[in-house]
Amino acid sequence: MKKLAGLLLMCGLGLSVQAAPGDTLRAVLADPAARQAAEAAGRKAAFFCANCHGENGVSKLPEVPNLAGQNPAYLLEQIRKFGTGQRRDEFMQRLIKVLKEEEQVQIAVFYAGQIPAPGRQEASQVAAGKQVYDKLCARCHGEQARGNEAIPRLAGQHVEYLVTSVTRYRDRTGERLDPAMSSAVAPLKNADIKAVAAYLNTLP
Ligand code: HEC
Ligand code: HEC
Repeated sequence: MKKLAGLLLMCGLGLSVQAAPGDTLRAVLADPAARQAAEAAGRKAAFFCANCHGENGVSKLPEVPNLAGQNPAYLLEQIRKFGTGQRRDEFMQRLIKVLKEEEQVQIAVFYAGQIPAPGRQEASQVAAGKQVYDKLCARCHGEQARGNEAIPRLAGQHVEYLVTSVTRYRDRTGERLDPAMSSAVAPLKNADIKAVAAYLNTLP
């Protein structure tokens, strides 16, 4: 079955009729050869994405998220959400529609395999941000902010993107809907959001 998944991906046929993308992703990740093939195909399929998200998933634009090292299941889920309009971003929603299901899986595998690029921030901000993070965020996003299948990695993410995203959840502006996330960040003041974003940006 694993071999079959790899073979179908390599032939470009995909498993879209037989399996949900999440199942295809799991099968590909479990098979080293299929994973390697998917990564290579994903790099090609992501040639246009690189304009904004960077060659290796580290974006040069502060408002565009880094995708390098992000959890592949989370990436695939966000692609799905843009596709259904559950997550709103005019450009991303239109773009995602042109991707085939197999390409979505390949792209998720490709970015997940790239190396994150943490930054440096002012020490006092970082210390203040760590306190906020440990108290309010670590229980879901993990001690080291590396997330899991359902929860995004935050370590090494751009400050500006983090600030915008957290503010949107807190103020329930409608671009992103996740009641648990919105409740978690409800107590944060703007200064807390800046501090926690600075801290997260520095994490490897
Ligand atoms: C014109 C610039 C641009 C291009 C090209 C682009 N993106 Fe994006 N992408 C963005 C922006 C901006 C966001 C953040 C949207 C938001 O604020 O919610 C984003 C968000 C994402 C996210 C969510 C990441 C997260 O951490 O939640 C994924 C996944 C993604 N893009 C995948 C892709 C893929 C795959 C392609 C190519 C098919 C692509 N993007 C092309 C600008 C771009
Ligand atoms: C109850 C669990 C939970 C807690 C606590 C929580 N989060 Fe989240 N967070 C999530 C989930 C789930 C998502 C993905 C939601 C979605 O798909 O939009 C998310 C998404 C995010 C994102 C978007 C990341 C991206 O790549 O687009 C940011 C930023 C974030 N959280 C920051 C925080 C911060 C900062 C805190 C603490 C102040 C926090 N979260 C606390 C569950 C949680």
